[in-house]
Amino acid sequence: MKGDGITFHPGPLCGELDVPGDKSISHRALIAGAFGRAQLRIANLNPGRDVRATREALVALGIRIEVEGGETTVRGGALREPGGVLDCMNSGSTARMLLGACAGAGVRANFDGDSSLRRRPMEPVAAQLRAFGAQIETTDGRLPVKYRGTPEIQTRRFILLAPSAQVKSALLFAGLFAGVGVRVEGDRGSRDHTERLLAYLGLPVDWDGRSIDLAPGDALRRRESSVEVAGDFSAAAFFITAAAVTPRSSILIRKTGVNPTRTGLLDVLREMGAHIELRNERTVSGEPVADIRVAYAPLHATAVGPELALRAIDEIPLIAIAAAFADGSTAIAGVGELRTKESDRIAAIERLLQAVSIETEVQPAGLTIRGGRPSRAQEIVATDEDHRIAMAAAVLGCSAGPLAIDSMQSVDVSFPGFAQALEALQSERV
Ligand code: S3P
Repeated sequence: MKGDGITFHPGPLCGELDVPGDKSISHRALIAGAFGRAQLRIANLNPGRDVRATREALVALGIRIEVEGGETTVRGGALREPGGVLDCMNSGSTARMLLGACAGAGVRANFDGDSSLRRRPMEPVAAQLRAFGAQIETTDGRLPVKYRGTPEIQTRRFILLAPSAQVKSALLFAGLFAGVGVRVEGDRGSRDHTERLLAYLGLPVDWDGRSIDLAPGDALRRRESSVEVAGDFSAAAFFITAAAVTPRSSILIRKTGVNPTRTGLLDVLREMGAHIELRNERTVSGEPVADIRVAYAPLHATAVGPELALRAIDEIPLIAIAAAFADGSTAIAGVGELRTKESDRIAAIERLLQAVSIETEVQPAGLTIRGGRPSRAQEIVATDEDHRIAMAAAVLGCSAGPLAIDSMQSVDVSFPGFAQALEALQSERV
């Protein structure tokens, strides 16, 4: 293969592994740490480029962050105006959540990102923060974004215009950094890591999956705290799916986050007939964690509606791959948001499955996959520099390979070392 492309070969996955710290929780832990006055020690922070973008942006905003061994220490304080543009790289979470923090703190800043992030919508978060009172200019609804200050807080009660955890978190961080209470309504069960983390750190927050009330609190400003970040379910998801579709596979993924707002994939795979077991369930820093055992079993089709899809929003490419191996047609609905992720993931899924001769019918906000026997791909599959599409392609290669993809560089945003981890499981003896 030319360039940094790589070919994935079929073969069962066996053995045990750990996955990197959760990316979503890592962003939030850094931002919550920046708000405190006492230090926050974070263990198992995600090592990828997206979380680095948040860390470096916070340093540019005047926050001291030290990384030593496996531990990151954030010494919070007042945010201050950065000297230059905040480079959010490939990370939507960085741009949206830090815009919320700056809007609350009233610290002017300019935000930008790479060419992929510049294509993604910033208007949904900007519009809701404008209702808060923030003066924000986008570039045709996207980055670069200029935040010019919050002369006066106009509302503290929001109705979410989209069921986005990033937008919800931006509003909660705006309230936190402004030192005012906020109420967010209209959630539909999106990931609740911000709520759990703030509650774990002692802040007065109540939520029920539909609305969130965050009252002003100074717990974070008084005491030193520590957070251990659970293994990233969205990273574990690649191995879970690969083992579920590859005959003779049996794996155990240790200490993985199993927050129910994230584990829609497990529900879908179980419904399809997969053998999945959660062991040693416990709570780590306010988040449910378990060891996940998965073994191969033949799968059958299912239907995935919008509520379930929201709890599996980053795993839809993997659900589509499982559906490709399942008996019957699987319909996935209410996932239009996938068109504005790191790439147009609906188009990417269609391309991926087409490469292995699986028929997919694509709608504007959904897709139907006719399962069967994926065949060997003849061409190199393009990943659009999207980490989750590159790793999903690798999963397809485990069972329907050999499958060659154009580049694996993008995986560094969330899971440096992914290909090596996969190879290690494939080389274990059955
Ligand atoms: C995330 C929320 C989701 C998800 C993204 C991370 C988060 O995005 O797709 O990978 O950490 O809050 P949306 O909030 O846009 O749905």
